[in-house]
Amino acid sequence: MSAASGLDIAGLSVGYGARRIIDKLDLDGISASSVTALVGPNAAGKTTLLRSLAGLIPARGSIRLDGRELSGLDPASYAREVSYMPQTLPPRVALSVFEATLSALQSSALTQDIDPKRESLDVLRRLGIADLAMRGLDELSGGQRQLAALAQCLVREPRVLLLDEPTSALDIRHQLTVMKLVGEVARERGIIVVVVLHDIALAARWCDRIIVLSQGHIIADGTPAQAITPAMLASVYGVEARVERCSHGFVQVMVDAVKGDPASAG
Ligand SMILES: Nc1ncnc2c1ncn2[C@@H]1O[C@H](COP(=O)(O)OP(=O)(O)OP(=O)(O)O)[C@@H](O)[C@H]1O
Ligand SMILES: [Mg+2]
Repeated sequence: MSAASGLDIAGLSVGYGARRIIDKLDLDGISASSVTALVGPNAAGKTTLLRSLAGLIPARGSIRLDGRELSGLDPASYAREVSYMPQTLPPRVALSVFEATLSALQSSALTQDIDPKRESLDVLRRLGIADLAMRGLDELSGGQRQLAALAQCLVREPRVLLLDEPTSALDIRHQLTVMKLVGEVARERGIIVVVVLHDIALAARWCDRIIVLSQGHIIADGTPAQAITPAMLASVYGVEARVERCSHGFVQVMVDAVKGDPASAG
């Protein structure tokens, strides 16, 4: 792997109108074959950052993929490199789960040497939703829709996968299925994955690196053990919390009280 491999962000500024949300953000070496979590409070700028990395909102500064500047790419080329799953899913579409997955695959340029139908079914199978293949997207539950949207992102085999709260509607079993699969896909295909999560224990269990964003700034960045500390949780989220290890060695967070709130003190 060359020194320039991965995703590098330098001096990135993004905002809405005159309001700047992300100001000159630097983020080096988001590696391929690994999963990076982006966590932080509501309104921290996580979605804004992800959408700017996906080329969906204008940004100043540099976003380099394997040393190549992404900002100059036309939208179609950009979308082939970077696949984005939004926090809020688009309005309902009159396609079956299988048709939507197949159509996502066919819209990417990487279909020459593969059987698109088999690939589409394989992704649905790995997500545990093969039984939904012929169901209409507009007949699905919230969690099923989220899984179908993830299938559409995964099947395109992008170089960069940006997932905005992909487990927010999922039960505990499907959360595990999705995080495990995302890690496997990252490693199998050398993909760069950045995933926004509110569940810090889920991020700590399944992600290699955790970046904590607050008010548009990076507050912590490292392994789960480095990034998730009581001091970070107090300053970023305003909670009194303990960080412990479960019997399997994974980071667990126990929130005891809202800081300075006598009513919630344990
Ligand atoms: N389209 C928009 N126009 C104007 N302001 C926006 C827009 N989208 C987001 N914002 C503002 O930008 C800030 C960051 O929002 P963003 O959606 O990036 O936060 P977030 O970290 O993803 O939060 P959450 O965890 O609630 O999803 C917020 O103050 C929000 O109100
Ligand atoms: Mg968001």
